[in-house]
Amino acid sequence: MSFGVYVHWPFCAAKCPYCDFNSHVRQQIDEDAWTAGILRELEHVAALQKDARPIVETVFFGGGTPSLMSGRAVGAVLERIARLWRQANDVEITLESNPASADAARFADYRAAGVNRLSLGVQALNDTDLKMLGRLHDVAEAKRALALAQKIFGRVSLDLIYARPDQTVDAWREELKEALSFGTEHLSLYQLTIEPATPFATLHRTGALTVPDDEHAAALYETTQEMTERAGVPAYEISNHARPGAEARHNLLYWRYGAYAGVGPGAHGRLALDGKRFATETERLPERWLNSQMRLSEIGREDAAREHLLMNLRLAEGLDLDAFRARWGWTPDVSRVPEGLLAIDGARLKATPRGRLVLNAVIAKLAS
Ligand SMILES: C[S@@+](CC[C@H](N)C(=O)[O-])C[C@H]1O[C@@H](n2cnc3c(N)ncnc32)[C@H](O)[C@@H]1O
Ligand code: SF4
Repeated sequence: MSFGVYVHWPFCAAKCPYCDFNSHVRQQIDEDAWTAGILRELEHVAALQKDARPIVETVFFGGGTPSLMSGRAVGAVLERIARLWRQANDVEITLESNPASADAARFADYRAAGVNRLSLGVQALNDTDLKMLGRLHDVAEAKRALALAQKIFGRVSLDLIYARPDQTVDAWREELKEALSFGTEHLSLYQLTIEPATPFATLHRTGALTVPDDEHAAALYETTQEMTERAGVPAYEISNHARPGAEARHNLLYWRYGAYAGVGPGAHGRLALDGKRFATETERLPERWLNSQMRLSEIGREDAAREHLLMNLRLAEGLDLDAFRARWGWTPDVSRVPEGLLAIDGARLKATPRGRLVLNAVIAKLAS
């Protein structure tokens, strides 16, 4: 089974008003203490695996804003991973970066430490919307960061948020056209979600911020699918697009239901131990996490099968029905789901693009 490592860095220079990730603003950060905490959790996971340690195929530094880490801290984490596990020759090592904390020296340090893929949070390609999203950078800065990333890292991805207030299909079309012209092998294109307990949720409730209705959002989504397909970077997952072969292997590992260590505040992991599947969870609040212990709990077969189904159906490639049946002794009952949301393609069960948009409802029907 594939194995990867997720490292969560929980700090940001400012909190974006739409974001409910486990990310916090702190005046001062004792980087050595946080790094030591991450190393301690890596040791803990390796000890749980005893002598059955899998080969690490991917590492992902996510956040928060891991591009606030020094190259030294990133290097220390990667060295410890290499000491604890064998690594694939072509190990994929991704780091998420905010354009406001992107500079040549920092990127060069990451590259020297072993990072070979950079994911950049561009979010929008017009300054008005970047301001509305509370971003600390403008378009020019984002483009500079992108050009730098493309020079230093072999593989680059960019994030954009669409379905913003008042965004027309034509405006999104223009922006996406420009994003595609940068020629990155991978793009994550997220529809703006109003997350509970964020400043955007308050504005939304009071009517000060309106987002596209379902019909308009669907038109934006379809435009996204069409344009990315035409540009040779089709969706391989609900929001993720890549040139064939350039998919994020770390993301694929989640969605193909592989195993991964999750370290850092609030990180989740999935481990295969003694033929059983376990979930790991860590304390969310950074200061409390420093002195806390990772929690481990077994996932029952039924829950694991359901999770497997949910993950696989996010992918355009869908699910291998025979392998699924052999692993869990259960075949999902497709007849329970309304037409047009699922498709059987040979031995594979897939969610249609429309089905992928309402995936939770589809799974609830399949597994009821
Ligand atoms: C951890 S951040 C990426 C790195 C860095 N923190 C940054 O923002 O530049 C992950 C991505 O999730 C997306 N995201 C976060 N909150 C979102 C929301 N409410 N709706 C849609 N996308 C969201 C953004 O595109 C963001 O780049
Ligand atoms: S979107 Fe990125 S920079 Fe903004 S608060 Fe969330 S994690 Fe931090």
